[in-house]
Amino acid sequence: MDRAVVRLPVAGAAELVAKSSAMRRVLDLAVRVAPSDAIVLITGESGTGKERLARFIHDRSKRGKGPFLAINCGALPESLLESELFGHVKGAFTGASADQKGLFEAATNGTLFLDEIGETSLQVQVKLLRALQEHSVRPVGATKDVHVNARILAATNRDLESMVSERSFRKDLFYRLKVVPLEVPPLRERREDILPLARQFIGRACKEHSCGPCSLSPGVLDLFMAYDWPGNVRELENAIERAVLLAEGKPKIEPGDLPPEARGQPNGSHAPVQDHILTLEEVERRHILATLDRLGGNRTETAKALGVGENTLWRKLKSYGMVKARKRKPGTAASEG
Ligand SMILES: Nc1ncnc2c1ncn2[C@@H]1O[C@H](COP(=O)(O)OP(=O)(O)OP(=O)(O)O)[C@@H](O)[C@H]1O
Ligand SMILES: [Mg+2]
Repeated sequence: MDRAVVRLPVAGAAELVAKSSAMRRVLDLAVRVAPSDAIVLITGESGTGKERLARFIHDRSKRGKGPFLAINCGALPESLLESELFGHVKGAFTGASADQKGLFEAATNGTLFLDEIGETSLQVQVKLLRALQEHSVRPVGATKDVHVNARILAATNRDLESMVSERSFRKDLFYRLKVVPLEVPPLRERREDILPLARQFIGRACKEHSCGPCSLSPGVLDLFMAYDWPGNVRELENAIERAVLLAEGKPKIEPGDLPPEARGQPNGSHAPVQDHILTLEEVERRHILATLDRLGGNRTETAKALGVGENTLWRKLKSYGMVKARKRKPGTAASEG
């Protein structure tokens, strides 16, 4: 999020993709905790879909018709964050020309999503703990508390447990938050979600850029399955958006329309890192994928160029998680998941 506070439009959001068993487990738990007012702590790497999951929980809760307010706790200086969260009274600080409700109050009968909660200062953490325990907050400059009833969902990509041992995160707040922990796995650990996600994103991108229907070539699907997606779902979404723009109305996205890193090329994240020695296995993997990319995803040609049999190549690709794409008939690629 680039803005600190976002008020998301109600529903209408595209379906949340969860084909892999790892993601299904997360969603099952989310469905079970949604109706209660339990605090949920959502963890996971950047771009895995933490906010998307928070929205999912809100939509399925009995507060679904109420507001869903989100704040990025890492995007504001401490004093501003306090005033956003808890509100302030007129004259509390320069520029406070009127009383202002905080998000805890504004999210009455709805949900408050505390994003990047690991970025809060110890001072804000004390106040958050109090708000969660007592259901009351004290606006900045006020002399009385205000009762609040917002349901709290929180997210972080930090390891709060180690922050607790380093004393940069309060233990009591940590225990309060982690009653229901939900961990969204990185995309590389749930490769079955890649193609259905890609399908959803390509449909959306084509509609948004009104470029007519387009699909992903088998070569692209193979590369998608082989790539590690360090930026997770968001990176996939951006790669597809970029590819749709670059393809300029072509009916098929080809490997050449992808960002270099997703093609396994050297200026991408597959580039050898200087002080990091690659294993032979990794060098082989990169070489195979780069060749496959260069030959437009054609496996017969790739096997020939690499001087191995097609079965050997197939076995290797299988070990990289690329077998599903292999079974696909050319031309049906983009409409399958
Ligand atoms: N399972 C999913 N199905 C459909 N779209 C998804 C899914 N997961 C994530 N997305 C989409 O991917 C993008 C990134 O998701 P989101 O913003 O929720 O990630 P995040 O974990 O909050 O990221 P960050 O840590 O950077 O804040 C969004 O556009 C979101 O709609
Ligand atoms: Mg987020």
